Amino acid sequence: MSTPTVDVNQNGNVKTEDTLCTLAEYEECDFSKLLEKPPRLLNMERQRSLDERSLSDLSIGISPRLSARATDINTSRIFEPLDFICSPVGRRSGFNTPRSQTGFEPHPMVAEAWEALRRSLVYFRGQPVGTIAALDNSEEKLNYDQVFVRDFVPSGLAFLMNGEPEIVKNFILKTLRLQSWEKKIDRFQLGEGVMPASFKVLHDPVRNNETLMADFGESAIGRVAPVDSGFWWIILLRAYTKSTGDTSLAELPECQKGMRLILSLCLSEGFDTFPTLLCADGCCMIDRRMGVYGYPIEIQALFFMALRCALLLLKQDDEGKEFIERIVKRLHALSFHMRSYFWLDLKQLNDIYRYKTEEYSHTALNKFNVMPDSLPEWIFDFMPVRGGYFIGNVSPARMDFRWFCLGNCIAILSSLATPEQSTAIMDLIESRWEELVGEMPLKVCYPAIENHEWRITTGCDPKNTRWSYHNGGSWPVLLWLLTAACVKTGRPQIARRALEIAETRLLKDNWPEYYDGKLGRYIGKQSRKVQTWSIAGYLVAKMLLEDPSHLGMIALEEDKQMKPLLRRSNSWTL
Ligand code: GLC
Repeated sequence: MSTPTVDVNQNGNVKTEDTLCTLAEYEECDFSKLLEKPPRLLNMERQRSLDERSLSDLSIGISPRLSARATDINTSRIFEPLDFICSPVGRRSGFNTPRSQTGFEPHPMVAEAWEALRRSLVYFRGQPVGTIAALDNSEEKLNYDQVFVRDFVPSGLAFLMNGEPEIVKNFILKTLRLQSWEKKIDRFQLGEGVMPASFKVLHDPVRNNETLMADFGESAIGRVAPVDSGFWWIILLRAYTKSTGDTSLAELPECQKGMRLILSLCLSEGFDTFPTLLCADGCCMIDRRMGVYGYPIEIQALFFMALRCALLLLKQDDEGKEFIERIVKRLHALSFHMRSYFWLDLKQLNDIYRYKTEEYSHTALNKFNVMPDSLPEWIFDFMPVRGGYFIGNVSPARMDFRWFCLGNCIAILSSLATPEQSTAIMDLIESRWEELVGEMPLKVCYPAIENHEWRITTGCDPKNTRWSYHNGGSWPVLLWLLTAACVKTGRPQIARRALEIAETRLLKDNWPEYYDGKLGRYIGKQSRKVQTWSIAGYLVAKMLLEDPSHLGMIALEEDKQMKPLLRRSNSWTL
């Protein structure tokens, strides 16, 4: 491995190149500790702890001389939080030709994937601003000719990992402009902070002009709300900042405002009795009616991760401070709620199986009045002796026991899952390999719903029949999330196994959007080909395995201060 160097740029920011171990340099936000302090003290403390953190980060894997230099710099100025998160990870040169750091020849699919990813680039007034959802011209396009915010995330990460941050910056800025549009569905005006689900570049050949057209759900099938878009936007902004060391983008007043607007939407007070975020069906990757209304795990995990990222990106100015305090409080409550009530393992399952109902009091064990009779048959076989996961949804008298891949992987990456829970999730994936990976990684959810339940839950959706599409279909894009979770939990061999399976077919099948069948054996009934996030997801997975230091841009270390609370919740649930 090359010798790391420390550089000081003109602004006095310290940058490390070729860091030896980015895992050890994670930022921590210690939010529970911050909560107990009065606001003024809170911010000073926060700044100091961040300073200390950046100081210790820099002394990892660098020579004593350089470390001393970093110390000097560190004490000579007060670091903003943003300085703290800027340790560029794995920068590369050779923009067009990804290099192999291990010295092994890259898989032949990698070059093909890069070419396909570059073909998917969307330009606006000469600049790349995103990637098209699918380059498949064979069928009706619907909205697959648009740049989706959620779909762009793996593309953006692939470009960042390959040392091409410009497109990510352009994307962040363009979507930010779209956020400031006035958004209306019929006569109803949407919240200011809403980020679009997707956008498109319109060419006017007469005026020789280009304009953007965004969709905030007002054209989407079913008029579904893209609750996840704003969260992905914040997560990508942090990935950009972390990977480039360029804090100036996140520090822009418009970016700070964009974040605050997103946060205003999801931190607002209402009638809720839970800290989780209440959503309508189809509000995320699963953007059709699939029974994911209420408090879906995908949104809760993204919410948690976005809050943690925002905490690192927000400036300590008057407006920022107020949000920081609200975030700290919410994180505290949210992690407690999720770790306690969404977590399911054999012990917890057995407890629910024996629950008493109709308990009225503060001491109720069955807090949500879940009827043991509502436990589905399959869960008893599915639950391994070792392992566990965050279930799909929890609300009054309703536990959706389905496994959802994205939410569980994000829970690991954001450290919403405790280290023990993260290990348990990986154990579950290993012991339920056939069901969750089978012949094509990876099941978006498990199991499929059928017959009467399918009729009631999906409204007889012919696209979401059993083991197809969102209803138990297998989505190659999820490979990047699985791989990142594997790297974070020190189980890369699981990701390698999954990738090997994908490599037998993905290119041959021309990068399908999804596969059908219990084992994922068949190309999806209505699956698009040349689906960009299948391509980018594969590339990100490959790059993460080749250079695990990339993980730093998409993962957050556990907040040590949460530990005491965890022990309490563990004793209830594990
Ligand atoms: C489908 C997927 C959605 C994705 C979009 C574009 O609607 O359900 O998650 O963002 O296609 O690929």
